[in-house]
Parts: sequence; C-alpha cells; structure tokens
Amino acid sequence: MNFIKTWFLKNSSVANQEIDFHKSKLDRARFGDIRDRYKNESPDPGFSKYTELDRFLKIALSHYDLVGLTNKTGLSVLDIGTGPGYFPFICSNFGHAARAMDVPNHSFYNEMTDLLGVNRFEHSIQAFEPLPQLSQRFDLITAFAICFNCHASDALWGVEEWGFFLSDIRKYMAEPKAILFLKFNREPNGSFFSDELREYFNSEGANINYDSVRIEY
Ligand SMILES: C[S@@+](CC[C@H](N)C(=O)[O-])C[C@H]1O[C@@H](n2cnc3c(N)ncnc32)[C@H](O)[C@@H]1O
Repeated sequence: MNFIKTWFLKNSSVANQEIDFHKSKLDRARFGDIRDRYKNESPDPGFSKYTELDRFLKIALSHYDLVGLTNKTGLSVLDIGTGPGYFPFICSNFGHAARAMDVPNHSFYNEMTDLLGVNRFEHSIQAFEPLPQLSQRFDLITAFAICFNCHASDALWGVEEWGFFLSDIRKYMAEPKAILFLKFNREPNGSFFSDELREYFNSEGANINYDSVRIEY
C-alpha cells in the first residue's frame, strides 16, 4: 500500500497539484537564495539534501498519509527533530495547529523553518533529561528520521532511555487520546531497532511497521 502511495505521490498530476499548492505558500525567491547558499554545504547524507524542495515536500506528504492525517484538520501536532520543517509546514497548510522542536543554532534549519513559518521552539533532547513542560498538549506527536536517540553512535538509546522519554511524552505532551509516531533511521548494523527495543515497544501497546512505531494513548 505504501509503495502504491509513494508511486502515486511521485507520478500523478494530482500529486503535482498538491505540491504546487504547498509551494504557493512559500516565498520562492527567498527559498532560492537559501538553496543556493546551502546546497553544497553538507552533501547527502548531510542536511543539504533538504534543499530539494519537491522531493522533501513529497516525502512530507507521504508522512502525512502514513500517520493517518489524510482528510483530517484542526489537530494539534508537535514534530520533534523537525529539521527544515516540511512536515509541520504542510500540516499548517492543511489546517492543523502545528509546532516543532529542534536543537538550537543550526543556521540552515533556522532559516528554513523561518521561511516556512513553522512555529518552532528550541530544545535538545538528552537521555534521562526531562522534556520541556509546555503550556499545551498535542493530539499527534511525530518524529521522522530520528537522530535524538544518539543514532549511529555508541550511545544509541536502549529500553531505559526510551522508557524515560515515553513516560515524559505521556506526562507532559500527549492529549488523552494522542498518537505518538516515531520513524527510525537505520543503524549501522542494518536494523532500525533491537529485538529488545521491539519487545519493549510491543509491551507499550505499539503498532510496529518496518521502521516505524505508533502508540495510541
Ligand atoms: C535526519 S534529521 C530529520 C529531519 C526531519 N525530521 C525529516 O524527517 O526530514 C534529524 C533531526 O533531528 C534533530 N536532532 C538531532 N539531535 C537532536 C536532539 N538531541 N534533540 C532534538 N532534535 C535533535 C536534528 O537537528 C535534525 O533536525
């Protein structure tokens, strides 16, 4: 199903119209200036890939579908580790109240989220450190291509670290029937998460699909 959706998003004229709709919501000249300044600064897998506007709008649209937002509106959404902010940008364009979180001091992400009008706050997630206590909770909390779990390092989060994080999400961020959607990066050993972590997420009632974990509160 996802393959069909992905193919559809890549090829159909309906999909292209949808991309054009989102592109019409941003200042193209200013985007061109940002792209020209950053497109060679950190080549793939670095952040310069995010200057490929059409490609990443399509990916954000496929994420929108993947998390089940199609035909929904008016939800509160928090996107953690948002990077350039394409996902909260399209959520806002579709009538949701989207916010985003990312580390401070990344000039490309700062400029992109500013361009896209993303309501972002700065916070660097650290293992066993509480999440910021905000004055609101969210219907949907997402994290795509997760790096805050010390991805691809010796400090990669295990069950304890995720347990602390999930407990904080439940305590401070999630509305009573919220959804938490986590999409993992592949680790150097080829897996998205260990068997132990899979078991833990299962014990939390998660729905696990390939690289993604979905928890309904
Ligand atoms: C691979 S990018 C993914 C960006 C975006 N979610 C996407 O799917 O395109 C990883 C993001 O996580 C952010 N990040 C890394 N470490 C973090 C931390 N400790 N706390 C919060 N965000 C973090 C990075 O700044 C970056 O925006």
